[in-house]
Amino acid sequence: MSEVTPQCEYIPGLSNIPAAQSSISHVDGRLGILEYRGIPIQELAQKSTFLETAYLLIWGQLPTQEQLEAFERDIRYHRRLKYRIRDMMKCFPETGHPMDALQTAAAALGLFHSRRVLDDEMYIRRAVIRLLAKIPTMVAAFELIRHGNDPIMPNDDLDYAANFLYMLTGREPTPTAARVFDACLTLHAEHTMNTSTFSALVTASTLTDPYGVIASAVGTLAGPLHGGAAEEALDLLAEIGSVNNVRPYVDACIQNRKKIMGFGHRVYKVKDPRSTILQSLAEQLFEELGHDPYYDIALELEKVVEEKLGEKGVYANVDFYSGLVYRALGIPKDLFTPMFAIARAAGWLAHWREQLTENRIFRPTQIYVGEHEVPFVSMEERESSFTN
Ligand code: ACO
Repeated sequence: MSEVTPQCEYIPGLSNIPAAQSSISHVDGRLGILEYRGIPIQELAQKSTFLETAYLLIWGQLPTQEQLEAFERDIRYHRRLKYRIRDMMKCFPETGHPMDALQTAAAALGLFHSRRVLDDEMYIRRAVIRLLAKIPTMVAAFELIRHGNDPIMPNDDLDYAANFLYMLTGREPTPTAARVFDACLTLHAEHTMNTSTFSALVTASTLTDPYGVIASAVGTLAGPLHGGAAEEALDLLAEIGSVNNVRPYVDACIQNRKKIMGFGHRVYKVKDPRSTILQSLAEQLFEELGHDPYYDIALELEKVVEEKLGEKGVYANVDFYSGLVYRALGIPKDLFTPMFAIARAAGWLAHWREQLTENRIFRPTQIYVGEHEVPFVSMEERESSFTN
C-alpha cells in the first residue's frame, strides 16, 4: 500500500503547517505582538527577570515569591560544571565554534544523568534546573579555555545575568549592563514553533532524555539560517562604515536583490516588538558606556530601509539591535548565537515539558519520487559501461 494518499500535498519546509498545539507563546506578525503565556513581551522585559520568565514559560504561571526564590537558589547551586565535563571541554579544538562546543557539552551532561523518569515532575524540575544553570557556565568556560585560560568559577553572590558576564570577562558587570543582558535573555527566551524548537520536539517525542533534546536544538540553532543573523547584521554596519554610505548601500542591495541582514521576518510584517525594546536597551547602555558610532549607522539604515522596503513589510528584526547590545557588553561576535541558546533553552524546555503531557512520536511521511523495479547491475557490467 502507498505510504501517502494521492491528495497529500508536499509543503517544502512544512511552511505554516501546525506541528503542535501550544499555550506557551503567541505571535501576531501584522500587529507586532509577542506574548509569553498571554503576557505581552514589553511587560516581561520591563517588569520580570529572565529566570522568572523561564519559570512562567516552563510551568505556565508566574511564580510566587517563595517559588521564585527556591528556583533561583536551586539554579545558583547547580551552576558549577563537573570537572570531567570541564576537562573534556579543555580537549576541544580552540578553533571549534562555540555552538559546537555547547552542543557537545550539553549532550555530555546526559551521560551523567542517563536515568529517565519522564513522568516524574521532580525529574523534570531537576533537569530544567541543571540545564538552565549549566548552559551559561559551559559557554563562558569554552570562551576562556579556547583563549588558553582556566574557566572562572561561578560567583554565588551574583544573579543569573551578572554571573554569566562575570564568568565571561572576569569582571562584575555594572547593574545597568546586568539588567540589559537579563532583558536580552527574556526577549530571546521563546518564539513559538521555530526551527530549533521543532527540532527539540521531534527529539523529545522519542522520549529520550532532556540533554539530548537540548543538544538537538542547539545543533539546529547553530545554522546561519536560524541563529546567525545578529552577527551578520553587525558585520553589515562595519561594511557600510559611515552614515553617508547608508543610502547608496541600500540602493545597491535593492538593485542586486541582496537581503539586508537584520531586516525582514517570516512572521512579522511590522517592526519586531523585540527590536523596539532592544533599541531602547542599547541606548541605555550607550548612555552609561559611551556612544557607539555604529548606532548612528544603524539608525540611518533603519530609516532608509523603512522608506524603501516598508511597503513590503520589511522592518528591523530582533537581530538588528541585539548585535549592538552584545558589542557594547563586550561579547565576542561568535558568541552571539550561544547567547541566543542560553536564552532559548527556557523555551525549548517549556516545549519539551508540554510535549511530554500529550506525547505522540513525530513520524511524518514523504512523497517518493524515485524509480521502481530497477534491475540490479553487477559490478562487471557497471565497470564496462563506465569504461565504454
Ligand atoms: N532585505 C531586502 N529585501 C528584503 C529583505 C531584506 N532583509 N527581507 C525581505 N525582503 C524583500 C524580499 O526580497 C521580497 O521582495 P520581492 O517581493 O520583491 O520578491 C519581499 O521583501 C518579501 O520578502 P520575503 O522573502 O517573502 O520574506 P520572507 O518572509 O520569505 O523572508 C527572511 C524573511 C528570510 C527573514 C528575510 O527577510 C531575510 O532573509 N532577512 C535577512 C536575514 C535576517 O535578518 N534573518 C533573521 C530573521 S529573525 C530570526 O530568525 C530570529
